[in-house]
This record gives sequence, structure tokens and C-alpha cells, in this order.
Amino acid sequence: MKLIIFASGRGSNAQAIIRATQNGRLGNVRVLSLVSDNPDAPALKIASDAGIEAVYMDPMRKGARLSQEAADNYIKYVKSKSPDLIVLAGFMRILPENFVEAFDGKIINLHPSLLPAYKGKDAIKRAFEAGEKVCGCTIHYVSAELDSGEIIMQSSVPIEKSDTLESLEERVHAAEHELIVKAIQKLS
Ligand code: GAR
Repeated sequence: MKLIIFASGRGSNAQAIIRATQNGRLGNVRVLSLVSDNPDAPALKIASDAGIEAVYMDPMRKGARLSQEAADNYIKYVKSKSPDLIVLAGFMRILPENFVEAFDGKIINLHPSLLPAYKGKDAIKRAFEAGEKVCGCTIHYVSAELDSGEIIMQSSVPIEKSDTLESLEERVHAAEHELIVKAIQKLS
């Protein structure tokens, strides 16, 4: 199975996927490239250090969405690579409908909450501040509506009384690194 990773920042989940392809956990999976909407994303360096094509693609506007023109460029690029799967691993932009339609059923997203709870930004912080006893992470198919497509896998993380936001974030991220690899294993 051939996949493209989309990432906007740190890239620890991209790293987990790449590592799993290197150590044999993702046997027949190949990462074709990593695409970022942020020219300074450490994720780009993680990919290029691993010998993987790392591409910055201009989102052509500020805010949560790609511009329509940018989305058309993204579609053209992705089509030229013919991936089986597009993995949004910390990609912080909402993809327009025509992108989702072009790759329907082939885009998955990682989200740091037990969806349908805490859709949108700062999910871990909001769950922590709400005094939840459990939070977690979800891998789901991407649909036109934000954080709402069919759920593929979830992993829960208990929130301890002794947790700070930082300690909780660390455990959710560790759970994400495991979950994203398991979800790709399942789909391959
Ligand atoms: C991850 O926690 C991921 O769940 C979140 O961004 C982080 C990226 O971390 N994604 C979203 O919030 C999407 N709505 P990373 O760059 O270290 O992989």
C-alpha cells in the first residue's frame, strides 16, 4: 500500500509511521511523500532525513482552510502520485469538498479526542479543563464535515488526578503514535 502523509507541524506521528515502515511493522506499506502547508514544519525534515520526498505546498491563504486554488494544486499533486491512502497526521487545515470528493474513502485523519466528543481545535486542553475522567484519540475517514467521518479505531487515555495538561498531552501523543500505525496496518 502506498501512502502520502499530510502534516503541518512537529511531525511526531509522521515519524511514528515512517519508523514503522523502516522496522517492518508496516510490511508492505510505502510512504510516497510528505506534504505540508507550513514551510517551517519539522515534519518536512523528518521525511527528507528518511529519504522521503518532502513537499511544501502553499495553502494560499491564512486561517483554517486551504484556498480553492491551493486545493486544486493539492489534488493535482496527489493524483500525480496515485496513493492508496492519504494520512492526515497533524494536518491543521480543513480540506475543501472537492478534495474530499476526489479521494473519497482514501483519506484518514488522526484527532486527539474520543470523537464525537471534542471536535475541532485544542481537544486535549478542552477535555482536561472540563474535568473529564477519560480522553483519547481517534482515526476516522475524512468526510466533508469536520471530524465527523466513519470511525476506524480509537484508543482511550485515562485522565489522572495528578495529571497536568502537559503530562496528559504526552500520554495522548504516545497513544496516537501507536494507534496511527495500527490503523494503517488494518487498512493495508
Ligand atoms: C496530534 O496530536 C494530532 O492528533 C493533532 O495534531 C497533533 C500533531 O502532532 N491533530 C489535530 O488536532 C487535527 N484536528 P504531530 O505533528 O507531532 O504529529
